[in-house]
Amino acid sequence: MQYGYFDDARREYVITTPRTPLPWINYLGSEAFFTLLSNTAGGYSFYKDARLRRITRYRYNASPLDGEGFRVYIRDGETVWNPGWQPVQTELDRYQCRHGLGYSVLEGAKNGVTATQELLVPNGDDCLLTRLTLRNDSSGTKRLEVFPYIEICLWDTMDDSSNFQRNFSTGEVEVCGAAVYHKTEYRERRDHFAFFWADREPDGFDTAREAFLGVYGSPARPRAVFGGGCTGSIAHGWQPVAAQQHTLLLPPGGSVRLLFGLGYIENPREEKWERPGVVNKTRAEAMMARYADPAAFDAAMDALRARWDGLLSAYQLCSGEEKLDRMVNIWNQYQCMVTFNMSRSASYFESGMGRGMGFRDSCQDLLGFVHMIPERARERILDIAATQFPDGSAYHQYQPLTKKGNLAVGSGFNDDPLWLIAGTDAYLRETGDWSILDERVDFDNDPALARPLLEHLRRSFDYTRTHLGPHGLPLIGRADWNDCLNLNCFSEHPGESFQTTGPSEGPVAESVFIGGMFVQYGRAWVDILRHLALEAEADAAQRDVDAMVQTVLSAGWDGAWFRRAYDAEGRVVGGAACEEGQIFIEPQGMCVMAGIGVETGEAAAALKSVEERLDTKYGIVLLQPAYTRYRLELGEISSYPPGYKENAGIFCHNNPWIVCAEAELGHGDRAFAVYRRTAPAYIEDISDIHRTEPYVYSQMIAGRDAPSFGEAKNSWLTGTAAWTFLSISQAILGVKPELDGLRINPCIPGKCRGFTVTRRWRGATYRIHVDNTAGAEHGVVSLTVDGAAVPGNLIPPAAPGSTVEVEAVMG
Ligand code: GLC
Ligand code: GLC
Repeated sequence: MQYGYFDDARREYVITTPRTPLPWINYLGSEAFFTLLSNTAGGYSFYKDARLRRITRYRYNASPLDGEGFRVYIRDGETVWNPGWQPVQTELDRYQCRHGLGYSVLEGAKNGVTATQELLVPNGDDCLLTRLTLRNDSSGTKRLEVFPYIEICLWDTMDDSSNFQRNFSTGEVEVCGAAVYHKTEYRERRDHFAFFWADREPDGFDTAREAFLGVYGSPARPRAVFGGGCTGSIAHGWQPVAAQQHTLLLPPGGSVRLLFGLGYIENPREEKWERPGVVNKTRAEAMMARYADPAAFDAAMDALRARWDGLLSAYQLCSGEEKLDRMVNIWNQYQCMVTFNMSRSASYFESGMGRGMGFRDSCQDLLGFVHMIPERARERILDIAATQFPDGSAYHQYQPLTKKGNLAVGSGFNDDPLWLIAGTDAYLRETGDWSILDERVDFDNDPALARPLLEHLRRSFDYTRTHLGPHGLPLIGRADWNDCLNLNCFSEHPGESFQTTGPSEGPVAESVFIGGMFVQYGRAWVDILRHLALEAEADAAQRDVDAMVQTVLSAGWDGAWFRRAYDAEGRVVGGAACEEGQIFIEPQGMCVMAGIGVETGEAAAALKSVEERLDTKYGIVLLQPAYTRYRLELGEISSYPPGYKENAGIFCHNNPWIVCAEAELGHGDRAFAVYRRTAPAYIEDISDIHRTEPYVYSQMIAGRDAPSFGEAKNSWLTGTAAWTFLSISQAILGVKPELDGLRINPCIPGKCRGFTVTRRWRGATYRIHVDNTAGAEHGVVSLTVDGAAVPGNLIPPAAPGSTVEVEAVMG
């Protein structure tokens, strides 16, 4: 069942009922000011950091769901309604929500009035703009009372939701004309404030929640809206809000537009005050002036569209397959950009309080967006690398506002260092900008320890090389990619963190997965060294990689698939002899991608085992059989009920690893079958089962052991976005940037007769037409570049600005 449809021409998903199975959200903002917005106008805003600079309040886990947001109440006689249905939930005559790229448009109609609420965060500015258009389609004059309403967050959302003994007394606002200024803590150490404004004088306002809603009132029935109107309250402590009342008279056929803004301003410390106790509003006034002209909103929308045209034009596919083109050209790339902006910090599942930017997460996100904005990828790589420790290990997370490593989580996730090589390698292949390796970057955010980025990569490689266990495989530490495989934890007390309890450097527990990564990204490291003519070092690194291949093929091989790990007592994890958890997906994907066992047959056998043991109709589960009881020696993975999360859920992130692995073996039919099984556009018609947004990937779909098999959770912020884009664009469609050229090596279903990819790369545009009249699954038999035959399948970089016509014939 569907709750809407794709409008590809406008690059929108159109939701046709407010009663979606879960709130279906969008992300507005791409720089510093962000808003999460649901299809009923729920959500919240923050500046840069969802934990430390929260602008509006949001309660996760509330009932009804999605209680706070950017609400507009309309009172029309006896009827009160919201264009987005929530929170009053008055049945609408018409409803629609269009989620587009960086903007959303909600439209509701009731009793002859149509209200259109358009929201966006303009390029280059720190505000959310809402344009409300009201049209009277009835035959009589309408007198409407319109109330915009937001609930303010007192900045640090952790404190805001727990430290009430203080923060019920700190809240402060100022009201000036059509604007409400939120200035809590501005009197002391904050140099920033937020403000809500309208482009016309309101007929009333409230800034104290209890005045607007009533002490025992609720957003579903605000006292001011249902009763006597706004009271002009000024909040002192408790819960500051921004609410206004606008009285509008609309003749038949008449319409009116209002603009509401929510801005964030920083003042230099010496310019904080206009006079004692009164905020200096100069910058806020300038912001309001920028949008005073009604044409400014349209201009902001046009600029947003133009930005997305530019971003998406770096990779465009024309395959004749509507759903595939839709994923590749629009939604998968859009989600990649959102994961780049958010890492795993703020979604409707990630509260924005718990996690900052993940080291491994952000490095992997790079793989999916580096082609769109290489400049920002460069900056991100340097930020991440600065949180690396001098020994090559890394802070697992850092806060985006401070860019400092997060002490509470610390380090010891032994896959982290290698992801830095993965991300940097992707950047080099995309841009050819070797100067990044010369950039001096702090270790542990200490400028005294700064060294060139190249040295960071070297220490990443060396960290893994020098932290091997009894079998010669890399030590796992607190966990590897699988945060929940905690082999050194042994937690017996409720509430202890599985990730930070226990010795991080257990000297025994090893990861086959990191072994595969070491081969995969060790090869990339060797290529980088050779490019720099550091031959001796490259030779030595190559020997380490070769040795690891042998180790994985011996200690890491179980007979029909790759093992997962060895636990702290040296027992196999992920082998046929195990009681449960006999086979895991991660090492099969990573080891085969790395090319291990491709020539000797283990790779093919491992993928066969995946198909036989882990495949389900909704995707490939992470492991089988699921763990049915808590296992002290394995940690969090066994804490989840069977079929959920890392305990045999369909962890979407590593499905594309299998796609890449299958492509490595030339299995085009199977690679695409795995790809499409989790691709949102292909499963739109099971939205009632899947429940999360049908336009983006979710982290997890409940596996076959779960009672709710097929139900997804944790939508949006997942490495799935980057990895599926990599798998479809590079492994299946086969357009892969390498250090010295663009490799054309498609691996597609035999029945696909061809396609065209337009790829911008290092300043030139490549129009690549793949001809598969032969019906092959892989293999390019001839390649012409601008009409001239080229041996092999690597196209050298063309002059920036040029357009290159490429014809690749498969067979
Ligand atoms: C989450 C984490 C990611 C981890 C994965 C598997 O998605 O953000 O870092 O690799 O879970 O545990
Ligand atoms: C939990 C989640 C896992 C995530 C981790 C991050 O363990 O199950 O997916 O990666 O938290 O710390």
